Amino acid sequence: MFIDREDRDDTAVLVLNRPDKLNALSYELISELQRTMDDCEIDPDVRAVVLTGVGKRAFSAGADIADLAGSIRGGHEVALREVVGRGQGLTRRIENFPKPFIVAVNGLALGGGCEVTEAAHLAVAAEHATFGKPEITLGFPPPFGGSQRLPRHVGRKRALEMILTGDPIDASLALQIGLVNAVVPEGDLLDAALALASRINRHPRTAVAACLAAVTRGLNVSIDEGLAIEAAWFGSTVPTEGVRDGLDRFLGRSSTEAEHRGGPDSS
Ligand code: COA
Repeated sequence: MFIDREDRDDTAVLVLNRPDKLNALSYELISELQRTMDDCEIDPDVRAVVLTGVGKRAFSAGADIADLAGSIRGGHEVALREVVGRGQGLTRRIENFPKPFIVAVNGLALGGGCEVTEAAHLAVAAEHATFGKPEITLGFPPPFGGSQRLPRHVGRKRALEMILTGDPIDASLALQIGLVNAVVPEGDLLDAALALASRINRHPRTAVAACLAAVTRGLNVSIDEGLAIEAAWFGSTVPTEGVRDGLDRFLGRSSTEAEHRGGPDSS
């Protein structure tokens, strides 16, 4: 078992638990993580997911190099199916997850660990966390979506500096370039991620899902296509209880306030 799950109120906390290998993403670990995410998706009591790593040394040191080496020895087709297929499969699943997916980066986030951070909707990092793309030192480009998401998120030149040098960056630079939302002391990391989740969980789940899908699906398309995506997701919320309740609450409050003011609607 490489994934521990502990629910805190309406947020599922998933913990990568393979500390002897710095939480490297073996094929087995990836499959287990995907299965746990499937469980969280259909669990009505789970409104958000926080992913972190056990201890404070590593969030994840990336793709498991032993697994990856075996796949590469199998040749081009096997390598594409096993390395890219599984790796991109995981990051796409995270990116498209219908509930907020927040990473709490508790240490090293290298290679696939950095790519998981890029794919997550939101990220909080401990002060000592570091992020890096060492794939080039192994002779290949990032295969879990990192050559595509990082430049889209932080800009081409910043991304290329990380991808081409393989040099890690610290948490404060990750914050500055927009790779993470916040940096907090190590002891506050989980609470900070849970607090972020609860600021989202107070909103209607249909609205949260629509916001996630509209932003994620619209990010890499033209503005016209993006606006059509926005229209479709806005439309999906029109018949929902979330909208009815939200509007009623606001309008109810407004008419009450008008009554207090003795305004024209107070009769
Ligand atoms: N895949 C598989 N095993 C990994 C791993 C990875 N990505 N990263 C670390 N490990 C394993 C090490 O092999 C070692 O296992 P062992 O004790 O059985 O030999 C264990 O985790 C501890 O790592 P170690 O290298 O001894 O720790 P360190 O403090 O000396 O170095 C790193 C830490 C992160 C600098 C180093 O482990 C490293 O460079 N890892 C690879 C990072 C990487 O290239 N990731 C991208 C992969 S595509």
